[in-house]
Amino acid sequence: MASFGAKLQTNAAEIERALEVLLAPGPLSGPGAPPARLVAAMRHGTLNGGKRLRPFLLRETAALCGTARELSLAAGVAVELVHCYSLIHDDLPAMDDDDLRRGRPTVHKAFDEATAILAGDALLTLAFGHMGEHGAADPALRARLVVELAAGAGSGGMVGGQMRDIEGETTRLDETGIARMQAMKTGALIRAAIRMGAILGGAGTDALGHLTAYAEAAGRAFQLADDLLDVTASPDAVGKATGKDAALGKQTLVARLGIDAARRHLGDIVHDAITALTPFGPEADTLREAARYFATRES
Ligand code: IPE
Ligand code: IPE
Ligand code: MG
Ligand code: MG
Ligand code: MG
Repeated sequence: MASFGAKLQTNAAEIERALEVLLAPGPLSGPGAPPARLVAAMRHGTLNGGKRLRPFLLRETAALCGTARELSLAAGVAVELVHCYSLIHDDLPAMDDDDLRRGRPTVHKAFDEATAILAGDALLTLAFGHMGEHGAADPALRARLVVELAAGAGSGGMVGGQMRDIEGETTRLDETGIARMQAMKTGALIRAAIRMGAILGGAGTDALGHLTAYAEAAGRAFQLADDLLDVTASPDAVGKATGKDAALGKQTLVARLGIDAARRHLGDIVHDAITALTPFGPEADTLREAARYFATRES
């Protein structure tokens, strides 16, 4: 039985390989050829880095529901493309204004702002094209996956959460408001990834409900851990600037509760995530480990 770390690594290597093949002039061609600078920026923002956790969750959930991992690769790639686009735009000067991502210059630093905006646009569009073509063999299932991804990525999901995050720099949120913002900006794509895995695996209503509860807790844990790392980790460890949330006046539970209380809260959320998996028994142990890893990760 492979260790959790080995499973993460295998998934990351498979996603990296698939992205490498996809992000090339041939596959990216439409009515015209993609400009070389745009392809280079898309590759810079996507390849050689990233834990690939959203595809991991999607594919582990699909496997739990009985779908072989080869069959969930395309959907995993699509979710990762949306995630990478969200990071490129999140780092722009108009948003978090970051120069370092995954240990390298952000896309707008390595290229320029216009190119970074367009590379993000292109990755988002590519994600949906890829899903529409390869997401699942059955067309009706493909359509459901596309709708799920759109809901997680859009104005009621990640993009809406990013809007709330920016608004939160100037308007005070209460604890519920912070939780809602985080559930959207980060939780929604994690939720979509897990639900897409469940849908791909043909999960029934009950199983989808339990997995959604797991996903929502895992998403909260993930962002709370990210906010803790922003205060406690070094830029070398996380590959991005730290101390930024306080500098930008971001409203986080860490800022509101303090580090110790935030850590305790994180432990409770991980417990909620693990509890939501009870109906699945030991088969769901990898997803349980994922929830623990979210809270204990150092990068
Ligand atoms: C970072 O996500 C952005 C957040 C949503 C907190 P990850 O920590 O998954 O970033 P990568 O993909 O591994 O770089
Ligand atoms: C990012 O949250 C959420 C996204 C939708 C990209 P953060 O702004 O905290 O992510 P990092 O810390 O820059 O990775
Ligand atoms: Mg941000
Ligand atoms: Mg940021
Ligand atoms: Mg952060």
